[in-house]
Amino acid sequence: MDLEAALEIAGVIIRQAGARALRSYGQRHHEVSKSSVFDIATEADREVEAYLVAALGEAFPEHHVVGEEGGHAGAPASADFHWYIDPIDGTSNYAASLPFFSVSMALCDREMRPLLGLVLNPVAGELFSARRGGGATLNGAPVQVSPTASLQNAILSCGYSRHPVHGAARNAPILRLLPRTRGLRWLGSSALELAWVACGRLDGYFEAGLSPWDFLGGLLLLREAGGRASDYSGCEEGLTGAELLASNGHLHQALLQELRPDPADLP
Ligand code: IPD
Ligand code: CA
Ligand code: CA
Repeated sequence: MDLEAALEIAGVIIRQAGARALRSYGQRHHEVSKSSVFDIATEADREVEAYLVAALGEAFPEHHVVGEEGGHAGAPASADFHWYIDPIDGTSNYAASLPFFSVSMALCDREMRPLLGLVLNPVAGELFSARRGGGATLNGAPVQVSPTASLQNAILSCGYSRHPVHGAARNAPILRLLPRTRGLRWLGSSALELAWVACGRLDGYFEAGLSPWDFLGGLLLLREAGGRASDYSGCEEGLTGAELLASNGHLHQALLQELRPDPADLP
């Protein structure tokens, strides 16, 4: 497959999707909750996903396309190539008119290894994209991770776990880390947080309980920009999103140390 050509086509499609998301940004939204009251979708999530699934299915009929909101198109799940799409990553921000959300897409092989990654911030007009082995760019200009080498100079972001059993243990490092960094944020769009580590605005990001569409596009951006990603035990292969630590590489070991479960926190 010509990955460079595919990235170009995907870039046009994601910009169209971003324009659709912006049409109803800033309005009052009818929200429906999905798995819980904290997990919401708006009509825009569905509309943008319907557009993306149809456009990718048409452009790449031999690929399997799967969206967070349940959309499917193209070839069956046994295909060699798979698109994972998140029409709006950061729906809680989007619905509240907070300008930190993204459209995210990843093209992966059968082992869920990303070959292409695209994350668009429609409000800022910023498109982050990467091709495996081809580096990462922001609106076409190469980006790389930050050189920050100590936690006290680092600005990090994280997610808060609502897991009924493991939540307390997963969240305990947040409070321990907070006073020892320059800042620890909870921003609410995993795809965009990964893109921001890739371009050096953030020095690291960690969250547990992610789904493939939340992180696969951003994962490739991060690695192609020179960053490092692993689970909380340091394993870099076969990431599922159950645990994700992304960093500029320099801070990875120190952050792994912090995220290692403390026996006192365990359920
Ligand atoms: C959510 C965002 C958020 C993360 C959640 C995701 P959604 O995706 O990425 O940052 O904390 O785990 O579900 O629902 O807004 O697409
Ligand atoms: Ca998401
Ligand atoms: Ca979403």
